[in-house]
Amino acid sequence: MPTSTTTITTAAKPAKPAKAAQATKATTATANSEFGNLRPAVGRSLPQEYYVSSEWFQRDVKMYGATQWLLVDHVSKIPSAGDWFTYEFGSNSIIVVRNKEGEINAFYNVCRHRGSILCAEGSAGKTKTLTCAYHSWSYDLDGNLRPPRSMPEDFDKKANGLVRCHIRVYDGLIFINLAKGNPPDFDVLIGDLKPFLDLHELQNAKVAYSKKWIIDANWKLNVENFLECYHCRAAHPTYTAVHDAMKLLSFGAGAGSSDKAVTNSFEARMKEWEAETNAKGIFTGIVVDGVDSDFFRAAARIPIKDGYKSETRDGTPGSTLMGKFREFDGGQTGVSFNATATIIANNDFALMFRYTPIDTLKTELVVSWIVHKDAVEGQDYDVEKISAVWAITLDEDKTITQNNQKGIQSTAYQPGVYSTQEQRIADFTQWYINRLERFESETAADNTILIAKH
Ligand code: FES
Ligand code: FE
Repeated sequence: MPTSTTTITTAAKPAKPAKAAQATKATTATANSEFGNLRPAVGRSLPQEYYVSSEWFQRDVKMYGATQWLLVDHVSKIPSAGDWFTYEFGSNSIIVVRNKEGEINAFYNVCRHRGSILCAEGSAGKTKTLTCAYHSWSYDLDGNLRPPRSMPEDFDKKANGLVRCHIRVYDGLIFINLAKGNPPDFDVLIGDLKPFLDLHELQNAKVAYSKKWIIDANWKLNVENFLECYHCRAAHPTYTAVHDAMKLLSFGAGAGSSDKAVTNSFEARMKEWEAETNAKGIFTGIVVDGVDSDFFRAAARIPIKDGYKSETRDGTPGSTLMGKFREFDGGQTGVSFNATATIIANNDFALMFRYTPIDTLKTELVVSWIVHKDAVEGQDYDVEKISAVWAITLDEDKTITQNNQKGIQSTAYQPGVYSTQEQRIADFTQWYINRLERFESETAADNTILIAKH
């Protein structure tokens, strides 16, 4: 079993505000006109337009879907051949379906005849063929078109299969990407995160329970709320009762959530816990991507609170041990694949967070609670017990995020200064603007080439 002391990736370290400002200027000098005087100030929340404008929303989803691997669900949601569900992102609906060989395919939910959707958006089911209700064109589970009626003699059936969407499955987690050309490098995404994920063996697990929240707020406000715990003391009595108070100041929203001076206040306890855990042969570490990174990943293993084995209300176990754990180490693993997809794994159960932008002022959050595949409900785990802390916390988060959105829509709103416990948001807003700028300049370059060719 691998062991490690704390590791912070240095390739893309989180930048201090002053440094981030310089880096941003240097890397984005060519595309400033696209942002004009709306370029956000470093260390402050974004200007109002970013949270309320549908034009910005369209730019966001285009960039985000093309540049990020979107975590859509766990494989246990489609256990056998023909099981499928759809996932909607921006203007795209994707069908994720298991074929006869047990592999998972992803197709754009668009009939190749005249473009009708095949499966109702937001639905799921089991089928032998994907059939369009409009004129009955039908596709097998690998997207191949079956012979349609009354087509011209020279119609090429093979050229009219469903359009594939980029898909990767890792450790039981299904990811899709909506890039028109090559997708981002999945191996790079997973590389540093592997030792964290390997501990929990999510491929040997199942979804015990899922819950959905629709939040009337821009997706970036939801992300920002998720990336800080400055609000926890006021908003989350249940969550703060379960977690060490000093830990919440330092790592309240995971790796990189507070600035270095604040994080250092927890260093002695962190080192002590890491030594105990490593002595048991269990991996510990920290990974934090910076403002110029491709994916804005973060990962860390952090103790919950003295005497707490798992993230339940009283700290007692919520289910049977998972993955490589043979005993409880009191730690919790956080893995963010990007700003909208996070796994929080205890030794005995894990949570999968999936934020999806629905509209400028609407975001969907789906959380799935994951347990060992052989765990039996009522015997090994109880849904109420494993879901209580976060179900309560996310109800509270919905309220405060919606209130945040309402206030931002006022003519009196001005970007505010982030606290030292909101370092990860300061980084996120800079990352977001860097990534958007990079994507739009690359897309513009692509278009130039296309125009030149024709
Ligand atoms: Fe699907 Fe015509 S649009 S069969
Ligand atoms: Fe919160």
